[in-house]
Amino acid sequence: MADAQVFFDYINEGYTTKGDAIVLGAAMLEGKTITNALVKVPLKTLNRHGLIAGATGTGKTKTLQVLAENLSEKGIPVLLMDIKGDLSGLAQPSPGHPKIDERHAQIGIPFEAKNFPVEILTLSEQNGVRLRATVSEFGPVLISRILELSEAQSGVMSILFKYCDDNKLPLLDLKDLKKILQYASDEGKDDIEKSYGRISPATSGSILRKIVELEQQGGDLFFGEKSFDTDDLLRIDENGRGFINIVRLTDIQDRPKLFSTFMLCLLAEIYATFPEQGDSGRPELVIFIDEAHLIFKEASGALLDQIESIVKLIRSKGVGLYFVTQNPTDVPDAVLSQLGLKIQHALRAFTAKDRKAIKLTAENYPLSDFYKTDEVLTALGIGEALVSALNEKGIPTPLAATLMRAPMSRMDVLEEEELKTLLDNSKLLKKYNETIDRESAYEMLNEKIEIAHQKEAQEKATREKEAARQSTSSTSSRSTRSTRRTKSTFEKVLTSPTVIRSVLGILTKMMK
Ligand SMILES: Nc1ncnc2c1ncn2[C@@H]1O[C@H](COP(=O)(O)OP(=O)(O)OP(=O)(O)O)[C@@H](O)[C@H]1O
Ligand SMILES: [Mg+2]
Repeated sequence: MADAQVFFDYINEGYTTKGDAIVLGAAMLEGKTITNALVKVPLKTLNRHGLIAGATGTGKTKTLQVLAENLSEKGIPVLLMDIKGDLSGLAQPSPGHPKIDERHAQIGIPFEAKNFPVEILTLSEQNGVRLRATVSEFGPVLISRILELSEAQSGVMSILFKYCDDNKLPLLDLKDLKKILQYASDEGKDDIEKSYGRISPATSGSILRKIVELEQQGGDLFFGEKSFDTDDLLRIDENGRGFINIVRLTDIQDRPKLFSTFMLCLLAEIYATFPEQGDSGRPELVIFIDEAHLIFKEASGALLDQIESIVKLIRSKGVGLYFVTQNPTDVPDAVLSQLGLKIQHALRAFTAKDRKAIKLTAENYPLSDFYKTDEVLTALGIGEALVSALNEKGIPTPLAATLMRAPMSRMDVLEEEELKTLLDNSKLLKKYNETIDRESAYEMLNEKIEIAHQKEAQEKATREKEAARQSTSSTSSRSTRSTRRTKSTFEKVLTSPTVIRSVLGILTKMMK
């Protein structure tokens, strides 16, 4: 047996930090927990991203919960993508359990039951603060990426955005976007062609089909007002704890495209709005994506490129991204290679393919004199994981099989009543859930078209009347035609101009 004292010293030295750190648990050697050999992640390297992986039921989500709690306690806000809906328990203290006490006695840190400040967000009509953004805010480049448009189609999209901007037509939701497309190949064709060039009906037809596809995945739900201000993700409660913002995505599992779209948009928005961070020694926001394979599963090459670039860039804004998934191979290599913290729960070797995956995973961890990594990977128990972090100098810490600490909050979900109370007390809910029905491109173009039709009808009637008079020389003429003129909102000057954020600029930079 390797010397436990040597191992203890090795772990303690490898995990000593100058600044503040989060304790994950205690290191294990040959299946035994070495009390007080604490495995820690320095706050300083938490913006270097990470991975939590492992077979089903091995403790990934609880590890996520532990990290979220400890970040909150250090005053760092957190954003959680809750696909299975099993994280709301963060808002209530753990009821405790003798097994939890035993776990913590082995680790060498006291167990305290606590609840945390939680905000529930939603993309759909579920209970929670609505997360929405307008089409204008996304800008033509991002919308084109989301819709996976060709270069020619993206060009058309840029023209349409420009036309709407020039004509003060707000593009809020997908209905607006569909309307302008239809208008461009119909009533507005000549007008647009004069100043911006011709748009072929075939091109606008194929763009339209892509929009309909996105709508069918429920994409229309998150385009619109009131648009979410990402600063609201950074709230700290009255006790100095960071808010844990939980996005409930239980209805998104079968709509991976929508999920990757949403994630990319959110990350682009955060990147666009957060200030550049110097070396503050701690992250501004940490984002966890549970069931992360869903974002990569159906993402096209272009979308993947985009995600990879933004993962790289967002670090400088003090934002850490953590992917939680069963198999590390679910995450593309380009993303995997950027991850600083790796928490690998047990993998199961049922098939030859599994064994290959385990070998591959083991090779991605630092070498260790104390472990045979592939063997440890299959031997880990529930709530145990192989950990490799980055120390404050950015160098990988010693590989440590770790008995993870237990969540301080409830490991189960909130009851209906508890959820209701939480939502009733939410300040954000009041801010974002009012329904705004601002006049946008859809209504304004409809009105414009109607006025054009009225004008045409009027002219036609005048012509007919003239012709009739000439042919019959009739003297009686009944003029009952309505002279009511619809007040055109299109002509009104909008008080708030369309804001097209600089997403275009950012993406151009990113693509370089
Ligand atoms: N750190 C921990 N402390 C105490 N119990 C734990 C811990 N981690 C896991 N467990 C126990 O293991 C169970 C399964 O954990 P968890 O839900 O995190 O698994 P998972 O890997 O996310 O599974 P899935 O892939 O199915 O989502 C928990 O309900 C809990 O009872
Ligand atoms: Mg889970």
